[in-house]
Amino acid sequence: MRNKITVIGAGNVGANCAVWAAKKELGDVVLLDIEHPTLGSGVPKGKALDLLQTGPVEGFDVNVTGTTDYADTANSDVIIITAGFPRKPGMSRDDLLLANYNVVKAATEKAIAVSPNAIIIVVTNPLDAMAQVALMVSKFPKNRVIGMAGVLDSARFRTFIAQELDVSVDNVTAVVLGGHGDTMVPVVRLSSVAGIPLTELISEERLAAIVDRTRNGGAEVVKLQGTSAYYAPAASAVEMAESILRDRKKVLPCAAYLEGEYGINGLFVGVPCKIGSTGIEQIFEIKLTEAETAALHKSSGAVQELVDVIKAKMAE
Ligand code: APR
Repeated sequence: MRNKITVIGAGNVGANCAVWAAKKELGDVVLLDIEHPTLGSGVPKGKALDLLQTGPVEGFDVNVTGTTDYADTANSDVIIITAGFPRKPGMSRDDLLLANYNVVKAATEKAIAVSPNAIIIVVTNPLDAMAQVALMVSKFPKNRVIGMAGVLDSARFRTFIAQELDVSVDNVTAVVLGGHGDTMVPVVRLSSVAGIPLTELISEERLAAIVDRTRNGGAEVVKLQGTSAYYAPAASAVEMAESILRDRKKVLPCAAYLEGEYGINGLFVGVPCKIGSTGIEQIFEIKLTEAETAALHKSSGAVQELVDVIKAKMAE
């Protein structure tokens, strides 16, 4: 039997998740959105049909369906939550907090009711806080709720390093820790080009500029196109889904629920994780310098503030 992947939210990120998942033949794809005031369930259905008709051209052989009914998502192996409101120019990810809290809460409740064994990948921003909502609402074991952030952040970091040195992005590995926000922590010391430390190749000044550009990588795209990024976020979420569904056991930076690792307790924060068929199979705890630890704790502090707002809301 084929795997089943549900993508909740058939907007820019969700539709592109469906494209990558179908192209990689990860399994049958269900694209779900809310009823449109005039088109009803037409939007996810239309996008799914359009994508399905790409199969003969691109040579993929999976089913793609669109729906507004959670019954159609039953028994999904992986659920990717992209539903919510995207960031508009001048808006921080945190501004989205309460609006997207309601969306992610509802989506999680409805999705897990029919797919109790799924692994959830959260993409909706503010990412770390929304992953925490999905965990609290689903009451799933922590290995089955993962936030997509680090794969995207490190892809941005890798892109800028490759551009700087005019080398293949394939050769660049980068470690990014922390929350998916302006306080994220690209760890220069642990990033390399074909094993050569970055510090050997790029001046301190240029590295600082690249780190800064990475931290603001999302905002740069928003400023240019008027809405948040979607190609790279979607590809990143699907890389995680692939590692789960094919049990690749890739080591990817993901937002994971920490219980003491890195001195952080009860919070989703980006850390290197082994991702396999059971979700997060291992969290790698690397020894950090004092400055890196301070930066990570500053970043987790920013996540904690958002989670506190949500917890207060949940207690109402
Ligand atoms: N249930 C299902 N879908 C919903 C719900 C809901 N309760 N509320 C909104 N949606 C749908 C919208 O109808 C829309 O089709 O979510 C989709 C969001 O799509 P876009 O507006 O195109 O936003 P997108 O760019 O895809 O970003 C979605 O991902 O990267 C993050 O910051 C981004 O939080 C944002 C999310």
